[in-house]
Amino acid sequence: MTDLIFFLGRFHVLALHLPIGMLLLTVGLDFLSQRSRYQYLAHALPLCWGATAISAVLTVLLGLMHFSEGGFEGPSASAHRNYGISVAVLCLMVWFVSEKLPALYKQVRLVSNLLLLFLVTMTGHYGGNLTHGSTYLVEYAPQSIRSMAGLEPRRAEVLDIALADPWYDIVHPMLQARCSSCHNNDKQSGQLNLSSLETLLLGGKSGASVVSGDVENSELFSRISLPENHEDFMPAEGKTPLTESQREIVRWWINAGLPVDTSVAEISPTEEISQLLALELGLESAPMLQVIYPPVANDTLMSLLNLGWQIRPLSQDSNGLIMSVLSKGQAVSREMLLALSGVRDSVVEINLASSGLSNDLLVELASFPVLGKLNLSNNSIGDAGMEVLSSIASLHLLNLYGNPQISDAGLSSLSGLTELDTVYLWGTGVTPEGTELLAAALPELSIQGQSLMLLNDGNAE
Ligand code: HEC
Repeated sequence: MTDLIFFLGRFHVLALHLPIGMLLLTVGLDFLSQRSRYQYLAHALPLCWGATAISAVLTVLLGLMHFSEGGFEGPSASAHRNYGISVAVLCLMVWFVSEKLPALYKQVRLVSNLLLLFLVTMTGHYGGNLTHGSTYLVEYAPQSIRSMAGLEPRRAEVLDIALADPWYDIVHPMLQARCSSCHNNDKQSGQLNLSSLETLLLGGKSGASVVSGDVENSELFSRISLPENHEDFMPAEGKTPLTESQREIVRWWINAGLPVDTSVAEISPTEEISQLLALELGLESAPMLQVIYPPVANDTLMSLLNLGWQIRPLSQDSNGLIMSVLSKGQAVSREMLLALSGVRDSVVEINLASSGLSNDLLVELASFPVLGKLNLSNNSIGDAGMEVLSSIASLHLLNLYGNPQISDAGLSSLSGLTELDTVYLWGTGVTPEGTELLAAALPELSIQGQSLMLLNDGNAE
């Protein structure tokens, strides 16, 4: 039964447009009918008032059903209800008078029309507060009007991500945009109000919504991370959800201990998070530390090309080089590797997939100082080669896919590579025990390989 009431109640937001339209029409007809040319319209007035009154009464009934769903708290909710009821009551009275007491109607119509217009405007205004939050209307108003409405000065636009306040500039606006229609001062679905940090910290029906430093136990984060068709997913009712990056930002903010009244720089987030934050604020991605690589002479580049290397610049304004063998399956020679060694200070990435690389040749890559990404997939590297890799301290991505001779012993050579953040191990001879040991040595490392997916589930963030 309550379900039926709630179901019907939701039609309130649809039905309410009918009495508003009818009221405006009837008042308009009433006005016209006072001119001799349109006098005949006067006959229709009682009928129009009747229709207006009936639609207003029905809308109020639906409104009361909707109200019974709960979550409508605060002054706007009761004001909306009272103004709405008064519109319906007054319409009934005017209907009665226009029908039965035409002489009286002529005397009161100006006053009653103006009063009705006023009441319906107030009803609509407070109703709007319920759906958009009471500050919706003046959000972009000049500051003088905003302060009349009790709003803080709008925050200055953030131009530098480092100076942004994590709550006021980043997380709060995100929640305002996606959640405030149901979690505001006037409407607190699930008894949760997201209009300020203070009210967020009060939590909702089921207790705390965010637990500082503990995203796993933060109801708010679980609600936004569920599959979108889950009934507990937030925002509810198919409203536009947060984006994947916004979710990551919320995760970061909770785990960082709900920082507020501080700056992003103070919290010094990872490079990845800084970029997400910058994107969220519509800024150019955070200025990264510009690494200066030594330029490589054109002659040298030409000879590398001639040897069979393909060369790409790291970016337009950088001398960093991305090197790969010209075509898939092309064997790499010692001569090629020796030549590369000559420009080692500029080589940031090497792709040697399926190039017939062996331990013996890999030695030539030892101690490349700025090499960050190395793709060695589908070769015949074994444990001896892994030892060479342990000398490339700058490595952060290493692809070892399809090198069956690599065993646990070889893998353990990587445990000193603290910069390493991703390693691919599919198709190697590594066992779950081996990966577990590496994961223990490098807890931040993401290890991609089928054995680990089963084993490291909870850990693989
Ligand atoms: C269309 C309305 C609507 C929107 C938009 C919405 N919510 Fe909700 N929210 C609800 C309703 C209704 C409930 C109570 C029912 C429930 O618990 O699922 C609720 C409950 C919650 C709760 C649980 C409160 C508790 O303690 O039980 C959390 C947390 C929450 N919402 C977070 C959010 C977040 C975060 C957003 C924005 C991304 C959001 N909601 C957007 C309607 C909405």
